[in-house]
Amino acid sequence: MTVTHTPKKLFIKTWGCQMNVYDSGRMADVVAPLGYAPTDVVGDADLVIFNTCHIREKATEKLFSELGRVRAHQKAREAAGSRMMVAVAGCVAQAEGPEIQRRAPYVDMVFGPQAYHQLPEMIARVSRGTGVVLNTEFPPEPKFDALPSEHTDTKVSAFLSVQEGCDKFCTFCVVPYTRGAEYSRSAVSIIREAERLVQQGAREITLLGQNVNAFHGEGPDGTIWNLGRLLYRLAEIPRLKRLRYTTSHPRDMDETLITAHRDIPHLMPFMHLPVQSGSDRILEKMNRKHTADDYRRVIDRLRDARPDVALSSDFIVGFPGETDDDFAATLALVREIGFAQAYSFKYSRRPGTPAAAMPNQIADDIQDARLAELQALLRTQQEEFNRRLLGKEIPVLFENPSEHTGKLFGRTPYLQAIRVVGAPHLVGEEWSVVIEDSSAHMLSGSLMLIDAA
Ligand code: SAH
Ligand code: SF4
Ligand code: F3S
Repeated sequence: MTVTHTPKKLFIKTWGCQMNVYDSGRMADVVAPLGYAPTDVVGDADLVIFNTCHIREKATEKLFSELGRVRAHQKAREAAGSRMMVAVAGCVAQAEGPEIQRRAPYVDMVFGPQAYHQLPEMIARVSRGTGVVLNTEFPPEPKFDALPSEHTDTKVSAFLSVQEGCDKFCTFCVVPYTRGAEYSRSAVSIIREAERLVQQGAREITLLGQNVNAFHGEGPDGTIWNLGRLLYRLAEIPRLKRLRYTTSHPRDMDETLITAHRDIPHLMPFMHLPVQSGSDRILEKMNRKHTADDYRRVIDRLRDARPDVALSSDFIVGFPGETDDDFAATLALVREIGFAQAYSFKYSRRPGTPAAAMPNQIADDIQDARLAELQALLRTQQEEFNRRLLGKEIPVLFENPSEHTGKLFGRTPYLQAIRVVGAPHLVGEEWSVVIEDSSAHMLSGSLMLIDAA
């Protein structure tokens, strides 16, 4: 029996990492059968979901200013005799559920990353008026088994979460508290989801996890598969052109995974491998469980396996106790390795994490100066990496027509964004492009024309 629901509108705003982007997509899938269709206009929405990130300070403040604005829309809807439900999901909800309810009592639902498959029940409870929902337990039944198998909005480049949570407990980081203990999905359910995504038009899949290379899911043969093994299997899916995975930890780069980079042409020669600092003293205080040399060795092994691999990383400057010498070690590591791109952040003191209680917190102006210096170096490396591609022929996967008329938006194997003049029917295809121009964040080029002779 098909149940028809009155059409309703859903507005989702997402902060944070790719896992949150994936989760937002899945939330839309969960409520689609209840009649909710996506809208970009918050004022039109019957259900507003803020999918939040707790990683750095500003994230929480942004949420509260966003909530203030949505309250005005909610009141306008009430005045017009209808209802706007407001939900806060994600990592801030997990960490600060009661605080959200105290500061924003008009929020109807607060739930963490492990509870969003229960959205239909939560919505029903709010509709019945049985009170506000706070759902920040880590429910025992894995949410992935409860999610619908269909994705409602599959893109050429799709995300697929394979692993969640983290057991590493870096001293600066909230993720082990907001996402919980490390959990790997079964390879069977991942393969099924990947096949489904490809059927629906995905040509590139990025496997996601807070610690994706710690993946250890049950394989179809009953043994435990690591990430490398899973990648070999996924590469067999017909019509899937590209595979990526993020974010990895240097400690978990095992031999199968390195070998996968040598053997699997689908696996893109681009690796996001956060190092955080180049100083062993700081890495130790961060509880990273690796040294700067361990990191160098992992990069050497990767480059042996796949000489054209390009690298990306995350850095934190101004961690408690960081001296000029420690910071100089970070700059030295960056110069030595050479990054195609990277993210860098000022250390942000997160309540409840061990580093927040450490002595010698670094003053803001020193953090600012170090961040500026590191970012200038990283920017030079990124521009240089892009410039080296000028005149070269590179395969580009076209993802969508860009807002610039007549051009397509795509990505190179190194994840660089690129615009190329081309017909919309090329979306979903991979074509050779000659790179003609580059800036730090965007390349442009022309399709290689095949000589009829
Ligand atoms: N799991 C990944 C990254 C998770 S968070 C890893 O192990 O590297 C993404 C990035 O945010 C981190 O790599 C780190 O650089 C940054 N980050 C995390 N906590 C932070 C904090 N308290 N202050 C500043 N940056 C932080
Ligand atoms: Fe956070 Fe460290 Fe876990 Fe990454 S490995 S999610 S930085 S605790
Ligand atoms: Fe942020 Fe949570 Fe991701 S804190 S970075 S949304 S895991």
